[in-house]
Order: sequence, then structure tokens, then C-alpha cells
Amino acid sequence: MTTEATSETALHFPTGFLWGTATASHQIEGGNTNNDWWAFEHAPGTPVAEPSGDACDSWNRWEEDLDLVSAMGLNAYRFSLEWSRIEPEPGEFSTAALDHYKAICAGARDRGILPVVTFHHFTSPRWVAAEGAFEWAETPARFADYVARAADHLGDEIGMACTINEPNVVTMMGYVLGAFPPGVASDFGRFAAANETMVAAHRGAVEALRAAPGDYPVGLTLSMAELIAEEGGEAARDEFQASMEDVFLDATGGDDFIGVQCYSNFRFGPKGIVAPPAGARTTPMGYEYWPQCVGATVRRAAAVTGLPVVVTENGISAADDAERIEYVRSALISLHEVMAEGVDVRGYVLWSLLDNFEWTLGYSQQFGLVEVDRRTFARTPKPSSSFYADVVANGRVLR
Ligand code: FCB
Repeated sequence: MTTEATSETALHFPTGFLWGTATASHQIEGGNTNNDWWAFEHAPGTPVAEPSGDACDSWNRWEEDLDLVSAMGLNAYRFSLEWSRIEPEPGEFSTAALDHYKAICAGARDRGILPVVTFHHFTSPRWVAAEGAFEWAETPARFADYVARAADHLGDEIGMACTINEPNVVTMMGYVLGAFPPGVASDFGRFAAANETMVAAHRGAVEALRAAPGDYPVGLTLSMAELIAEEGGEAARDEFQASMEDVFLDATGGDDFIGVQCYSNFRFGPKGIVAPPAGARTTPMGYEYWPQCVGATVRRAAAVTGLPVVVTENGISAADDAERIEYVRSALISLHEVMAEGVDVRGYVLWSLLDNFEWTLGYSQQFGLVEVDRRTFARTPKPSSSFYADVVANGRVLR
């Protein structure tokens, strides 16, 4: 290739490797008024910077979104179903909403893109939240009912299924940091209990998906980080690892893959998490710039679970798009390294297709390969989307 300077080495990924990008319903659709996040955004006193509002208007513009994925030559698109649209009240299912998501799956397939469907990405219907969400003993069964109904409707259109997105983030942010619904801080007892309910919900969803028509890989996606113990920080690191990661990694027996989602590291001192070292490069999220977290987390997820790995999210919030290119390139180099060690990795899904609603931080972050005008919703691909398209077209990253 003329673009390949002789000083660079091409690191090749296997044929059939999944190259994707991801979104989530509440972050892009707009108007998700019937879930716990919308309520949280509008409740007085919560830390959410601004309401999600129309988001990227992807409820109406999903075909344009698929065209953007297709223009980059990707073969996978990960998106989520909005439970509150599909089951707005207990036991009341919306055929129109299910048809909508079926059309997205079919539209992806028409473009040669595998639909990677997430059944729960942070949001629960208001009626579930009113009962206590993941503190309600019935939630796993209710979730399984909804998953069964959706899977029955979508059938073989589904290409890969992720049951729950980052259950550990929902519980940590919800019960320890108070930044997600229900906005509770420092309650480790409720955090641990909600983790158990999450595990039960995942297992019930796997069963429901296996019983449904269609045959596709099923797994969980977990938020992971490279966990670094500084002097005297081993015990704090181990405790964090056990409650944030192992609770879920240990619950994946019999699944088809483990979805790893990683952005950076956490450093631990004797009293717990410590800030990045003075002068360390950080991102607008406040994370340490740490693309090599991909290799580290994938290696650990594979070792603990024994399952094939899909990197279901990785990316960077960057106002300067050149930083995204640099980050993704380094992340892929670290992924290639771990694959060269023999770890079974099936794909890489970049967060995110679009600049979108970044939860508590509102619209202040730019994770997208594509910029979205907040007033007109016009989509403009950034240089990083051409960079990614080139990696994918050639199946390689240059070191
Ligand atoms: C992950 C979430 C995703 C997005 C990225 C930046 O934790 O799954 O929705 O917010 O972080």
C-alpha cells in the first residue's frame, strides 16, 4: 500500500474478525421519556448536567446511522433495544417498537453488517424503577420475559446478543457514586445486593435467548480497567477487582463470549483508588490516557472466563479528533499483542459511532467517529472515521 511507510510494521488481524462501532438507545434515540434515566435527568438535585432531549434523533435517523457504519466498511454494529419502548407498562408489549428494531437489524444485514443487539444498556422502564430496579427480586424474571418477547420477534435477524451492558457500572454509579439512578452514594451493601440481582438477570436472559428462535452467540459486556496496585495498594486493588469484575466474570459459565469494555486504568494506594500521577496525560473524562488497557483487560477476561473475547467497547472522549486516531491505533496494537499470545479475540467495537448523550456529563463529551450538529442533527464524519475505515479495509494496524 502506498500509505504504508517502510518504517512501519503492519499488524494483521484474522479474516472474519468483527470490526464494529457501538451506540445505545438512550444516548442516541431521543425522547425516551418512559425510562428511569429520563426521570433522573429531570429530578431536582441529581448531578446530571442536562437532559438527553432529542439526543441524536436516531429513532428517526437510524438508516442514516447504518449508512455511516456501512461507509466505513464495518461488518458489525452494536446498538441497544430500549426496554421502556418495548414494554412501556408491565406485560404490555409494543409491536411497533419491536418492528422498529427488527427493521434496524434487517437494515444492517442488507448492508452486510452484523447486528449486535444489547438488551439492557443502563436504562430501565419507569415501572421497573418504581419497584426498585435491580433491588427488586422480580426484576430478573421480568427482564427475562421482555428478552424472550424481543428475541422471539427479532429471531434470526439478531447476529450476536449482549444481555446487559456493564452491570457493574449501573450498580457502582447507582449505589456508590450516586451519579446514576437511583442516585445513592456509598451504600456498599445495596451495591453488592444489586450485583447479585444483575447476575441473576444475566443468567435468566441467557436462558431466554437460548430458548428463543435463532442461533447466535450470547454474552455479557463488562466494564473493565487495567487495575494497577501502587505501593501498598494490593489489597484495595484485589477488593475492587473482586466486587467490580470477578462477580460478573465468574457468572459467565456456559456463555458464548465475554464482552470487554475498557477505556483506561485505575490506580490503587493503601486506601483505595488514587489519582493519576502528577503530569500524567488525561482525557476530558478525567481518565488517564491509557490505550494499552485493551490488551490488559482482554488478557484477564480470557484467563478468568476461558471464553472467546469480543471488545464490545473501547474509545476515547477527545475534542481533538487526532487524539482518537492515536488512541485507537495504540489500543489496536495492544489488542494485536494479546492475540499474538494466543488469546481468542473475535472482534473490536469502537465506542462510539456518534457524539452523543454521555449520561451524567450530558453532551460535553466527544466519543464519536461522527460529529452530530445539536440543532440540525446533521452528521459529519471526522478524520478518525477515515482512519478506522482504512484499518478495516486492510485488516491491519500500522505500528
Ligand atoms: C461506557 C458505556 C457507554 C458510554 C461509554 C463512554 O461505560 O457503556 O454507554 O457511556 O462508557
